[in-house]
Amino acid sequence: MLSFDDLGPKSSATPVILLHGFPLSRAVWADAAASLGKHRRALTVDLIGFGQSAGRDAWTLDDQARAVREVALQAGITRFVLGGLSMGGYVSLAYHRLFPQDLAGLLLVDTKSVADTEEGKEGRNRMADVARREGSATIAKLMFPKMLAPTAPQRVQDQLMSIMNACPAPTVATACIAMRDRPDFTPDLAATKVPVHVVTGRHDAITPPEIGKQLAQAAKGGYTEIADAGHMAPLERPDAVAAAINAFASKLD
Ligand code: MLT
Repeated sequence: MLSFDDLGPKSSATPVILLHGFPLSRAVWADAAASLGKHRRALTVDLIGFGQSAGRDAWTLDDQARAVREVALQAGITRFVLGGLSMGGYVSLAYHRLFPQDLAGLLLVDTKSVADTEEGKEGRNRMADVARREGSATIAKLMFPKMLAPTAPQRVQDQLMSIMNACPAPTVATACIAMRDRPDFTPDLAATKVPVHVVTGRHDAITPPEIGKQLAQAAKGGYTEIADAGHMAPLERPDAVAAAINAFASKLD
């Protein structure tokens, strides 16, 4: 069973389950979930092998989605908004493919729906090797320069570094392989009946606003751009991201 935090009132308002990105943990959602928890139930989950959740030798994005469903069932939640940041977005898209009937809404934050290119897949293999050989600290140093808006305060920079450094190296390597092997989820979005909302940091250097807008267009969903945020919008502007999520979820209550 995955570790998770369960915040906010157990009222009739649509609950939200939030998934972190790579190589992160539910800590990246802590402030945004606290803010969202003033309005509705918000769960933040450590995916398999991340944060306080135990690892496995190998897993796929579908395995992660199935484990998230167990969290929802354990919490007694059968209809909810599922939201994912970057890699958490890929897991959310995998969940949407497997269990669309559970979803009141799908929230995609600083993420994309397309599969990796051949060059991208080679990059994943190289990164998995680096993680196995040199550990998470090297991966954190490699990733850090692209993660935040140029204006991110030192406190946020330090928080991000410490979350990335804490990610176990075997999990980093396994995640690279799982992300490498993910399918193109774009056709699912085009065909979905689930309401979709996309949130993107204005300075996201990994999945820039152009990609977020394309996602929203493909899904005929809504789009919110977060000023003064990069690829880690929930960490950088937690209140603004929580407000966007709450506005989306309010329409589904
Ligand atoms: C993330 O933040 O989760 C990663 O950028 C996802 C990826 O590497 O594709």
